[in-house]
Amino acid sequence: MRRKIVAGNWKMNKTPSETVKLINELKPLVANDDVDVVFCVPAISIIPAMEAAKGSNINIGAENMYFEESGAFTGEIAPNMLTDVGVKYVIIGHSERREYFAETDEFVNKKVIKAFEHNITPIVCCGETLVQREQGVTIDFVRQQIKIAFLNVTAEQAKTAVIAYEPIWAIGTGKVATTEQAEEVCKAIRECIEEVYDTDTANAIRIQYGGSVSADSAAELFSQNNIDGGLVGGASLKPDFGKIVNYK
Ligand code: 13P
Repeated sequence: MRRKIVAGNWKMNKTPSETVKLINELKPLVANDDVDVVFCVPAISIIPAMEAAKGSNINIGAENMYFEESGAFTGEIAPNMLTDVGVKYVIIGHSERREYFAETDEFVNKKVIKAFEHNITPIVCCGETLVQREQGVTIDFVRQQIKIAFLNVTAEQAKTAVIAYEPIWAIGTGKVATTEQAEEVCKAIRECIEEVYDTDTANAIRIQYGGSVSADSAAELFSQNNIDGGLVGGASLKPDFGKIVNYK
């Protein structure tokens, strides 16, 4: 049985001091030892977030990371900077990074490989645009994203990965995918992992749904066979996140 994982993606929200305040508010609400709870926060807030979350079930993750060890990459964050402060999760290839910062599938793959080298669990994002969905190419497109993201990743590594299926048209729009749409693509992703690796790996890898997840939609989404939790944007900054973590 796969353990559920519910992660908040804070995106570019909250200053470091606001972060501490919000974590203190949310801490009692997200207490649930049956679920892995992760707050992915802006890099500058990782250290204060870690301190605020100490002693709780909250894991602090990063929203991005570069694929080189160090050097002349102004503005980037190296993997050992994350591990040095205890970060265990990093979001890789979010659609906003692909769209606004020109991240390609090849970049995503390099970052996934680098995260594993440093024992950081990547939360690998994929998902189609509205046009792709309307053209009926969603599954082909997502399969391609996943296949490239996992190139040269071993089965042992892939087993520990998290994939977030986030249809772009559902992000920040309040337009959540139907349970059937979300389950259909998450199932297709698991089948793709089975083809690339094997049944054991497909059964072990955790697949989240993301895109306008709310306290109202979480229970039904997270109870699907192939959905192992969620990657939550807007609602992760509110007390509602407690209801999402405690969806049962
Ligand atoms: P929303 O939950 O705000 O739609 O954002 C989803 C998302 O992009 C999480 O990574």
